[in-house]
Amino acid sequence: MSFAEYEVKDMIAVITMNRPSALNALNSEVLDDLNAVIDAVDLKTIRCLIITGAGEKSFVAGADIGEMSALTKEEGIAFSKKGNDLFRKIETLPIPVIAAVNGYALGGGCELSMACDFRIASENAVFGQPETGLGITPGFGGTQRLARLIGAGAAKQMIYTARNIKADEAMRIGLVNSVVPADQLMAAAEKIAGQIAKNAPIAVANAKAAINEGIQKPMEEAESIEEHRFGSCFETHDQKEGMSAFLEKRKDKNFINQ
Ligand code: CAA
Repeated sequence: MSFAEYEVKDMIAVITMNRPSALNALNSEVLDDLNAVIDAVDLKTIRCLIITGAGEKSFVAGADIGEMSALTKEEGIAFSKKGNDLFRKIETLPIPVIAAVNGYALGGGCELSMACDFRIASENAVFGQPETGLGITPGFGGTQRLARLIGAGAAKQMIYTARNIKADEAMRIGLVNSVVPADQLMAAAEKIAGQIAKNAPIAVANAKAAINEGIQKPMEEAESIEEHRFGSCFETHDQKEGMSAFLEKRKDKNFINQ
C-alpha cells in the first residue's frame, strides 16, 4: 500500500493522497511516496494529472504535527526543504496538475493544492494556513504561493489570523476556480482534464512554463519568454497538425506529443 495511490484513466492520471486515519496528513513517508509517484508519471502518455485526497472529509490536513513537534531548527529547515522541493517538482511538471480539493486543505494541504496549476473544490472544502496557531510559519510554500495567488494583503490576513475559509470564500478571493457538489468533484476535474488532454501537449507545456516563468519577471523579460515558447512550437509536428486540421476544416486532430 502506498500513501499516494496512482491510477491512470486513458491519458489522465489521478493521485489520491491516502492516509485517511490522519486525514491524509503529510509525514516524511507520505512525502516520499508522493515523490516516487510523481517521478513515475509517464510524461510521454499522460496529458493531465489530478491530485485528490482519500475519503470524503479531507484533501490533506497539513504536514504531520506529531512528526514536526520534536524537530530542531536544522531539522525544521530540512523538513521545509523536503516539502518545498517536492511541491516545486509538481509545480514545474511539464503537464498540467489539477487539485481536486475534497475537504480539508490546511497548512501543507493548502500548499500542495497551490503547487498545482489550479484548484477546483467540493462544497465542503476548507482552506487555511493554521501554522501561526501552532507556533510556526507555513513551510511548504504557503508564504510565497498564497501571496502570489490572492495578493499579499489577503494572504497576510489568512496566515496571521490562522482562520480557515470555506469553499465559497476561497472562490471569492480567487484561490479556487470552481466549487461543485462533493459527489461531482472528480467528474468535474476529469472533464477539465479531458479538455486539456485534447490539445497539443507541447503547446500546453509551453504555455504552462511561459506563465509560471513569466509571472515572476518584468514584462519585457516575460514577453521574451513567451516569444521563445511560442516560436519553439513551430518546430513541432503538432503545430503542423493543428493548423492543417483548421485549414482543411477537419475536426479530428492527431496530436502525437512531438
Ligand atoms: N497532523 C497529524 N495528524 C493529524 C493532522 C495533522 N496535520 N490533522 C489531522 N490529524 C489526525 C488527528 O490527530 C486524528 O488522529 P487520531 O484519530 O489518531 O486522534 C485524525 O487525524 C482525525 O482528526 P480529528 O479527530 O482532529 O478530526 P476533526 O474532524 O475533529 O478535525 C481538523 C479535523 C479540523 C482538520 C483537525 O484534524 C485539525 O485541525 N488538524 C490539523 C490541521 C493543521 O493544523 N494543519 C497544519 C499543519 S502545520 C503545516 O502544515 C506546516 C507546513 O506548512 C509544512
